[in-house]
Amino acid sequence: MAMDGIERVKTGINGLDGLIGGGIPQGFNVLITGGPGVGKTIFGLQYLYNGVKNGENGLYVTLDNTRQELLKQARLFGWDIAALEKDGKLAVLEVPLNTTDMDLFELVKTNVKKVGAKRLVFDSLINFSINIDQFKTPLDYTVTNPKVAEVMGNEKMYYSGKSKERVTYLLLDELSKLGTTNIVITASSEDGMMTKDGVSEFATDGVIVLELSDTGGEILRTVRVTKMRDSKIDPKLKTFDFGEKGIVLE
Ligand SMILES: Nc1ncnc2c1ncn2[C@@H]1O[C@H](COP(=O)(O)OP(=O)(O)OP(=O)(O)O)[C@@H](O)[C@H]1O
Ligand SMILES: [Mg+2]
Repeated sequence: MAMDGIERVKTGINGLDGLIGGGIPQGFNVLITGGPGVGKTIFGLQYLYNGVKNGENGLYVTLDNTRQELLKQARLFGWDIAALEKDGKLAVLEVPLNTTDMDLFELVKTNVKKVGAKRLVFDSLINFSINIDQFKTPLDYTVTNPKVAEVMGNEKMYYSGKSKERVTYLLLDELSKLGTTNIVITASSEDGMMTKDGVSEFATDGVIVLELSDTGGEILRTVRVTKMRDSKIDPKLKTFDFGEKGIVLE
């Protein structure tokens, strides 16, 4: 434990922990947001892999990729997820989206217990809200206020009457009850908004933005920490690249 009494979980991602006061405060929900293909999933895999090296077990919950895709991606950086699964240190939970009435929260809880997870990655929040009708949730909220319905327009129908904002808060609340330190992945919006749902950046304890940026004709991957509660952050824009062992900040 540090002098400030806050226990921090090191991401182990080269150059990142220094930007957030040494690591993520234990128990936090930290949002990773960014455009397609920028490296969000690799970030999540690396966070869990580094956890295992630190003696902390992890659970990867994916709605976005198959287990096989994740294993293959990890292998490119020398991370043998299958071996760690065999040792009971890590688990990949591929959430099926072609069933209805699945109790996702119960499933996640069971798997956290089973692997003794201290770290969790949820990939992705946006896919969860898009598929909300597949899941059994304690949520039966519908938008009944005509003004709200009007503002939400077609989106309201898209989310079948359950507001994406409410659904987002619900999931984050459930994740924070697990006691794990969580990386929650979502998508940024083309119109420059930090997230597509517009609320998860406020509802999480920390926000890390990954972007492809055009800096003077050169396209670079960049990372910036915009929020980490209880922490002194360095909000500067840093570039990053994929090295042989994953993401490295420059
Ligand atoms: N071994 C590797 N070396 C260098 N770059 C790689 C390697 N493996 C993957 N990449 C890069 O990483 C990108 C994919 O990363 P990742 O799957 O983490 O992105 P993502 O942000 O999760 O994407 P999506 O929005 O589709 O979920 C690819 O576009 C590729 O350019
Ligand atoms: Mg991804």
